[in-house]
Amino acid sequence: MRKNIVAGNWKSNKTLTQALALAEEVKTLASQITTEAEIILGATSLYLLPIKKVLGEGSKVKISAQNTSAYGQGAFTGEISADQLASAEIPYVILGHSERRTLFGETDDIIQVKVKQALNAGLLPIFCCGEPFEIRQAGTQNDLVKIQVETALFGLSDEEMRKVVIAYEPVWAIGTGLTASAQQAQDMHAFIRSLIAIKFGKETAHEISILYGGSVKSSNAAEIFGMPDVDGGLIGGASLVADEFINIVKCA
Ligand code: PGA
Repeated sequence: MRKNIVAGNWKSNKTLTQALALAEEVKTLASQITTEAEIILGATSLYLLPIKKVLGEGSKVKISAQNTSAYGQGAFTGEISADQLASAEIPYVILGHSERRTLFGETDDIIQVKVKQALNAGLLPIFCCGEPFEIRQAGTQNDLVKIQVETALFGLSDEEMRKVVIAYEPVWAIGTGLTASAQQAQDMHAFIRSLIAIKFGKETAHEISILYGGSVKSSNAAEIFGMPDVDGGLIGGASLVADEFINIVKCA
């Protein structure tokens, strides 16, 4: 059975003290609700170990890095390799986020390497894809997302594919307050699942979680998460406020 997942993407927000306080608050609020959904906090790498300590052993709130190196260990100043993250017992890593693609020049080919590095190290990738506004306007969003998905994921084995979480995040909806309609999200998610089915088979396609991201709030989460191919969300701005984030988790 595929999992519902609600992952916060804190991006480069919060000081260490603020991040630990937020993690503590999320932990407390999460302990007060019953949910089957996996709750993940994607924080600045530097904060992941202290956050893990705050959350405690066996916590139902998990942590994620927001990037990893395309290289292994070695002379790569400033990089954090996938096996370094894995050695610190960080379970998840967000890869291919649109901000990495547009601001830091990450191509589909680079993301493909990162996905592979992450899986080889034993990390679970949260792979992001999604089209910019002009592509949506031109109506060619499926073509673009197909290339993103095929390039990054189609070289994986079936077993590897089952470890990947996909996040569909239309770039025009990220941090803009514009959300894809529930139907637009569903249409793209069904399309992505059909791509996975063609390459890896229906069973694998059925197993993987596909999250929606882009201006998700507690006021629109229930409708979007209620669609049959939407298995939760990747949440930016709204994940920076603990009770708002937990209200979103409750919708999953
Ligand atoms: P947003 O960001 O929820 O602030 O739109 C989503 C994301 O970038 O993952």
